[in-house]
Amino acid sequence: MTGKLEGFLKSRKTVIEERLPMYIKDLQAPSILKESMLYSLEAGGKRLRPILVLALLHAYGKDEEAGIPVGCAVEMIHTYSLIHDDLPCMDDDDLRRGKPTNHKIYGEATAILAGDALLTESFKMITSNMPSDVSAEKRIRLVNELISAAGAEGMVGGQILDMEAESKSVSLDELQRIHEGKTAKLLSFSVIAGAILADASEKEIEKLREFSHHIGIGFQIRDDILDLEGSEDKIGKRIGSDASNGKSTYPSLLSLEGASQKLDEHIEKAKQLISELPLEKELMYEFCDMIAARDH
Ligand code: IPE
Ligand code: IPE
Ligand code: MG
Ligand code: MG
Ligand code: MG
Repeated sequence: MTGKLEGFLKSRKTVIEERLPMYIKDLQAPSILKESMLYSLEAGGKRLRPILVLALLHAYGKDEEAGIPVGCAVEMIHTYSLIHDDLPCMDDDDLRRGKPTNHKIYGEATAILAGDALLTESFKMITSNMPSDVSAEKRIRLVNELISAAGAEGMVGGQILDMEAESKSVSLDELQRIHEGKTAKLLSFSVIAGAILADASEKEIEKLREFSHHIGIGFQIRDDILDLEGSEDKIGKRIGSDASNGKSTYPSLLSLEGASQKLDEHIEKAKQLISELPLEKELMYEFCDMIAARDH
């Protein structure tokens, strides 16, 4: 990785990782629940969803402070989705972020409840933990966007479609719908939230929604490829999980080569859309390239 992105990723990851556990630690809640929530939140992870919120604010030349609680909210929801995704009744994985999965340490019931608590508490980051100058109207808009991205119309809906598509062949359109739901929608939230906080125009927000669709699909295609040819040490998850679960993935449908080609197409479209927007482009272009080339 070259240019501006490397330093941006590193510095913003530190900011997010400082802030993420603070809120959980302060909760008046049973200690085993807090411990289980913190176990997965502090296990590592790239923090790309919160960093994307900050990247949009940065690209618009705006102060990033309000992006931190919003970024923490989306990372809490993402982390809950991973805890549940790894359960024996779902993908049945035992390694996540380089550590045993939450249910392997705390048991299935506590893992489910830690996920439930992360989801529910996430909204308070937006309603109550924002800088005071962010209007109530903006907060409601952000909460509504997050509900659409994470709930039945977004990530949860995508996870159901993903399970339904196990051990059967699906069309490319259906596979795209699965990836859109389970992965692109949350990444899309990060982009839209950054743009809303940056006071982007409605026209720009719609263009950014389209942009985020392409990086979101691209992100999951790369995840599918890494499940086949990545390094367990680098990705911190077991390789071959999709094949052993009979998952429908881009490589299973199109072959590795076809999947990489589709990934490139989505990244090119994403960059094209960025070129049409009034923001600092270099960081966003580099972000697109990183999604296509990432090894973890
Ligand atoms: C993994 O997400 C799950 C997908 C939606 C592909 P990430 O690759 O962002 O996982 P972490 O947060 O870095 O662990
Ligand atoms: C993950 O898809 C989507 C969500 C967790 C919502 P995967 O099942 O491919 O993610 P990994 O590979 O386990 O991280
Ligand atoms: Mg899954
Ligand atoms: Mg999984
Ligand atoms: Mg995967």
